[in-house]
Amino acid sequence: MSQDLQDTLHAQGQSHLLRWWDELSADQQSELAAQIRAVDFDEVSRLASSGAGQGSASTAAEQSQRAVPSSQMVRLPQTPEDLRLWAEAAADGRAVLAEGRVGVILVAGGQGTRLGFPHPKGMYPIGPVSGKPMFQLLVEQVIARGRQTGVSIPYYVMTSAATHAETVEFFAQHGNFGLDAGDVKFFQQGAMPAVDAESGQLLLAEKGRLATSPDGHGGVLAALARSGMLRDMRERGIDLLFYHQVDNPLCRVCDPAFLGFHVKHQSEATTKVVAKTGPEERMGVVVDVDGKTQIIEYSDLPPEIAALTDESGDLLFWAGSTAIHIFNREFLERLTDGEIALPFHIAHKQVPYVDEAGRQVEPANPNAYKFERFIFDVLPLAEQALVVEAAREDEFNPLKNAEGVNSPPDVKSSLVALHRRWLRGASIDVPETAQVEISPLAGVDEEAVATSAYGRLDFTGPLYVEPAD
Ligand code: UD1
Repeated sequence: MSQDLQDTLHAQGQSHLLRWWDELSADQQSELAAQIRAVDFDEVSRLASSGAGQGSASTAAEQSQRAVPSSQMVRLPQTPEDLRLWAEAAADGRAVLAEGRVGVILVAGGQGTRLGFPHPKGMYPIGPVSGKPMFQLLVEQVIARGRQTGVSIPYYVMTSAATHAETVEFFAQHGNFGLDAGDVKFFQQGAMPAVDAESGQLLLAEKGRLATSPDGHGGVLAALARSGMLRDMRERGIDLLFYHQVDNPLCRVCDPAFLGFHVKHQSEATTKVVAKTGPEERMGVVVDVDGKTQIIEYSDLPPEIAALTDESGDLLFWAGSTAIHIFNREFLERLTDGEIALPFHIAHKQVPYVDEAGRQVEPANPNAYKFERFIFDVLPLAEQALVVEAAREDEFNPLKNAEGVNSPPDVKSSLVALHRRWLRGASIDVPETAQVEISPLAGVDEEAVATSAYGRLDFTGPLYVEPAD
């Protein structure tokens, strides 16, 4: 064992990590040593002590006292003039797409614990009639938008240690769902060690492995820079990045109007919101704090503030974050040039570990702190930020839970209802009970559906509308 490793750990009070060293194989030893060398111990110990004082939560609680509804906001269109502005924004968005300036970032590093699906969430078969997996519905939107505007749009997919191998293999098995191999780029986010909440000591998941977890979707910044993806974007002439999560198949990937507003307002970071269903909904809220747009996570927002109402009795902080954003590439480059200034959020969680007697412990209660960065913390760092409202029924129903709201049946029924509305908008008579799903390749939005000729559609059984080839 190298002396420097022993010295570092001794100085940090973390020598217990080498307790089983002599029992490990040479490979295990070198893996553990590499894991330990990657840890920034000063940072972890600072975070662990702020965790004891509930660091980020108390900052957010304090900030939420000063929060006001966001002022840089484009609301859903109400008047003919609004409709004109939205149509103009959509045309502007299609123009930047046609110029090949747009790339797409998908964050797919989370473990989907709440859903109870033991694979990357993108593999979940969510197509209500087709049974297509989430990844496919998203990729096909990217392909369809590219075809609509005559360009190929690259898809940058962030995975984590937990999801990487399965995700890459799934795409390969399915021929990248039709996207050119050169236009799918996988890159892996980093990890952070978990620490014992009482002692601040790092935990061992096994005798030769630290307990770690993905560093949050905010890890996307360091990962984009480290993996060369920002350079790839620059070389391709991509300066606008559409960012979304792997859980929402209703997400309008590369939404032209959203892109158009972003460009028109010279925003560096634009985020999409929908009205929350109630104060308790588990969505971050988009607010202004000291004149800066910011998202306060649901777990950090004190319930009495979440429940505040305005003079008409409506929720004051109604603007729920869909976690769909647009970032300027140059803005992300600026943020990754040097130390990344995003805070870590601290979560008190149950983390299995090996105790001092070498026994595997499955704690019944939260025993450890985990540290994550959130991408939305870039918003207040933007010179100019913008918020755009969307209709929930058209764009948002993420797959989160095994049952009830945001469960597979709930998400599928939203997709079916949306596609029925698109067909009706194209003057097609659709029965109320029709089970219908439209392939993104046959119609990516209501406009594409309205201008497609599908021939006679038979609604007597479940119907999957596919492109005519
Ligand atoms: C998230 C948002 C919430 C928002 C809601 C909308 C956060 C912290 N919260 O809640 O404000 O209103 O979505 O649906 O973002 N991920 C990674 N790597 C990680 C962690 C997560 O890639 O280390 C990805 C997941 O794969 C997933 C997404 O980020 O696609 C969301 O993460 P999750 O922790 O599930 O956040 P939510 O609680 O759903």
